[in-house]
Amino acid sequence: MKIQMLPREKVFRDPIHNYIHVQHKVILDLINTKEFQRLRRIKQLGTSSFTFQGAEHSRFTHCMGVYEITRQICDNFQRNYPTKEPGDGLWNDDERIVALCAALLHDLGHGPYSHTFEHIFNTDHEMWTQKIITSKETEINHVLRQVSDDFPEKVASVIDHTYPNPQVVQMISSQIDADRMDYLLRDAYFTGTKYGMFDLTRILRVMRPYDKGIAFDNDGMHAVEDYVLCRFQMYQQIYFHPVSRGMEVVLTKLLQRAKDLYKHNQMNGFEMPSLLVPFFTENVSIDDYLSLDDGILNTYFTLWQSYPDEILKDLAYRFLSRKPFKSAQYNHETKAKLPELAELVENTGFDKNYYTAINTSFDLPYDIYNPRQNKRKTQIEIMQDDGSLIELSTISRLVNALTGKITGDERFYFPKTMIVEHSNDIFSGFYDAFQSHIHNDMIV
Ligand code: NI
Repeated sequence: MKIQMLPREKVFRDPIHNYIHVQHKVILDLINTKEFQRLRRIKQLGTSSFTFQGAEHSRFTHCMGVYEITRQICDNFQRNYPTKEPGDGLWNDDERIVALCAALLHDLGHGPYSHTFEHIFNTDHEMWTQKIITSKETEINHVLRQVSDDFPEKVASVIDHTYPNPQVVQMISSQIDADRMDYLLRDAYFTGTKYGMFDLTRILRVMRPYDKGIAFDNDGMHAVEDYVLCRFQMYQQIYFHPVSRGMEVVLTKLLQRAKDLYKHNQMNGFEMPSLLVPFFTENVSIDDYLSLDDGILNTYFTLWQSYPDEILKDLAYRFLSRKPFKSAQYNHETKAKLPELAELVENTGFDKNYYTAINTSFDLPYDIYNPRQNKRKTQIEIMQDDGSLIELSTISRLVNALTGKITGDERFYFPKTMIVEHSNDIFSGFYDAFQSHIHNDMIV
């Protein structure tokens, strides 16, 4: 392994971490690749910025932040817990460079409007991240190979959770990792909310390596507890916001309509969105994948506003001009009414396939290890003064209240006109019928 240091440390200014410190040449070279720079053109929160207009920050800034938190963890481990002999469970600083590269690159494969896009075109950002790292065609791979021939595979294996050192894997991916800690603080800052403001400095201070991964000192328990709570609140208040989801539904239907038109040969000549065709046919090369960003999609949406297809045109208008679908919450009791509501929407003149949707958002705030559920889940361990470990929810009543409990809601989405009172037009009859089915206090 050839690890070259920069002659002089380089810093990047950041609103969350103040300075992001870069000391290794490979990190600076990775930042300067075209694949990493693409992340500047992809918003971190997608349609959430329609609700929280400050949330225009990019995947680029988040990845830089995850790198910086990981660097601080490594510094702390090296200062306080350096290994003395192999197998003592302490920190081996030779692992630093693979941890830093994996942290920086962990979201490299995200596409525009990630989750919506993945859902319609059957792609997976984690798979693409690994592909971009390991494919010999990319600048990223070229930079990583300067370290050693097998270095790209090593970095990819951290993201794949198969890297042999659990400390490195848990730094990047666990229930309390550099990724989550950065996005919670960053998203709270840019949305202008205060829910995600846990004490990062304190958490980093009480983090410690042990033979099976990373644990937390006993006296830092409340800082960790507060982090779990912040995460829970961010999901309920920001990530699951019903209006952002209303825009997500519009986007889903818009992309679905474009895909359906293509499949039925209704997009021809100059109307053909050539950069999307590989996704319509699900035959996507790395170059195809990397050529997309938020700007490309938004440009197509702008063009589609003047296309002949009425549905495509209308949905593109709704997305660009922020006209979210409205929604009503339902439960297993009221679920039976949904086909009837969809029928009312259809009778009003909307195609129910493109103008109604159900959207469910659920999260598991914290969970303990369960071999039958998810093998990847690493529980949060608190180290006692005698060196023994206790799982967080057994000593925190607050965390215990959230453990293993799925929270979220299920909503039915429809055009706003269904609930706007119309004096004299074709909608008025439907309005009353629609109203009789849903309670106003459930509508957002
Ligand atoms: Ni991330």
